[in-house]
Amino acid sequence: MLSGAAILAGVIGDPVSHSLSPRLHGYWLQQLGIDGAYVPLHVGADNLETAIRGLKALGFAGANVTVPHKEAAADFCDEVDEMAERVGAVNTLVIKDGELHGSNTDVFGFEENIRAELGSGRGRAVLLGAGGAARAVIVALQDMGFADIRLMNRTTARAESLAWDFGLETAVKWGAWEEALDGADLLINTTSLGMTGQPALEIDLAVLPNSALVTDLVYNPLETPLLAAARERGNPAVDGLGMLLHQARPGFEAWFGAAPEVTEGLRAHVLQGLG
Ligand code: ATR
Repeated sequence: MLSGAAILAGVIGDPVSHSLSPRLHGYWLQQLGIDGAYVPLHVGADNLETAIRGLKALGFAGANVTVPHKEAAADFCDEVDEMAERVGAVNTLVIKDGELHGSNTDVFGFEENIRAELGSGRGRAVLLGAGGAARAVIVALQDMGFADIRLMNRTTARAESLAWDFGLETAVKWGAWEEALDGADLLINTTSLGMTGQPALEIDLAVLPNSALVTDLVYNPLETPLLAAARERGNPAVDGLGMLLHQARPGFEAWFGAAPEVTEGLRAHVLQGLG
């Protein structure tokens, strides 16, 4: 039950009805017995500035920002942290002392999700895709100390542009799996391939070392064809749901004042929301 002093937060997106974040934060609020609410906020691009400024007026503690507003949100913050600057996207807004702070917790979410499974090798990482999600993963890979980050994307020009932005070697041509995967320590799919309703990712893993960790940002389905193929040949594999769960932790703690945990109970509850 909410009191008149309840703490408010939410997620701003367009569309937003598919978002699992209300379910995720709602679980933590209930588990921790916090007097607070986290609500979906459907906001179109035309209203983004009004909506973000309105959070302050309404006394919100903050909000998450999702597709397609993560890049534009930075323009309406009083301050944007270094991580959000590097990624070029804001996914978490925190209002403190009347100031709106923008940050990016996707990098943290990605790192936390693979931390336990990633071996000690920090040589080559192969990243598939060049959309918004790829940017956060590149920052994470750079922070984790990967020496050789190879970008591959169907549209090579987008991968080249990302490589330029982050000071990486030039991209590898899409489909040149042998060249890219030979000796790799980590393979990450950030494309939409493998998602329910999308084609599977057609990839030849033959030269990928068996010790390489394979991870997919797609979490619907949880076990994508890529992850299934990786496990089948003995590679460690991590699904994408954990990134969503972990990226939510810093925002929750900043707004509601308690550090939440990613547990099996949370995973099961959020998975139910996928239907
Ligand atoms: P996000 O911001 O979530 O990463 P996005 O910008 O729409 O999403 O990017 C989707 C990614 O999936 C892109 O890398 C896209 O490749 P292109 O840049 O060539 O469009 C990739 N993708 C989508 N459908 C694909 C397909 N059929 N084959 C190969 N790559 C595909």
